[in-house]
Amino acid sequence: MQSLNKCFINSGINGYRMMKRCTFAKYLSTGIVMEKIIPIASDHGGFLMKQFLIEKLEASGYKVVDFGTHSEKSVDYPDMIHPLATAIEKGEYPIGIILCGSGNGAQMTANHHHGVRAALCWNVELAKLARQHNDANILALPGRFISNELAWEMVQAFLTTQFEGGRHKRRVEKIEQIEN
Ligand code: RB5
Repeated sequence: MQSLNKCFINSGINGYRMMKRCTFAKYLSTGIVMEKIIPIASDHGGFLMKQFLIEKLEASGYKVVDFGTHSEKSVDYPDMIHPLATAIEKGEYPIGIILCGSGNGAQMTANHHHGVRAALCWNVELAKLARQHNDANILALPGRFISNELAWEMVQAFLTTQFEGGRHKRRVEKIEQIEN
């Protein structure tokens, strides 16, 4: 088991590459330390749900980095999503959450970034599968189409589910082979 001030980053392939120090870590029963700093971003369509999730995350002991937006005023989702996805791409955070009205624009934007695997999910099972099978490192949520309570259940599932590796590791690695 690692020292408490070291995060064993819970993002499968990327996580094994990146062992980075942080102070916001906790041990799960598995002995795995989960990331405790969560970046989150939305446009106006996901703003209210983002604020709800920030409250829930902070109440659960997570530190949240809010990439905006900061009101319901209409904005362009790439302006918030690109900076968050860039931070994931650079390895500043292993896992993040993005929202827009449908979740589509946010997910499409994030997936332009190298090493980002953003999964648009509509229920808890899909959020778990995105981690287990796809090693997704960003959860994209449709802020205008699901309840806040469901979104929070999905976030918890996403943040605490492990990548299964094995045959899935081979498949995930093939996603980026086209870029080489
Ligand atoms: C904004 O009206 C809306 O288009 C946006 O939130 C998102 O759904 C785009 O994919």
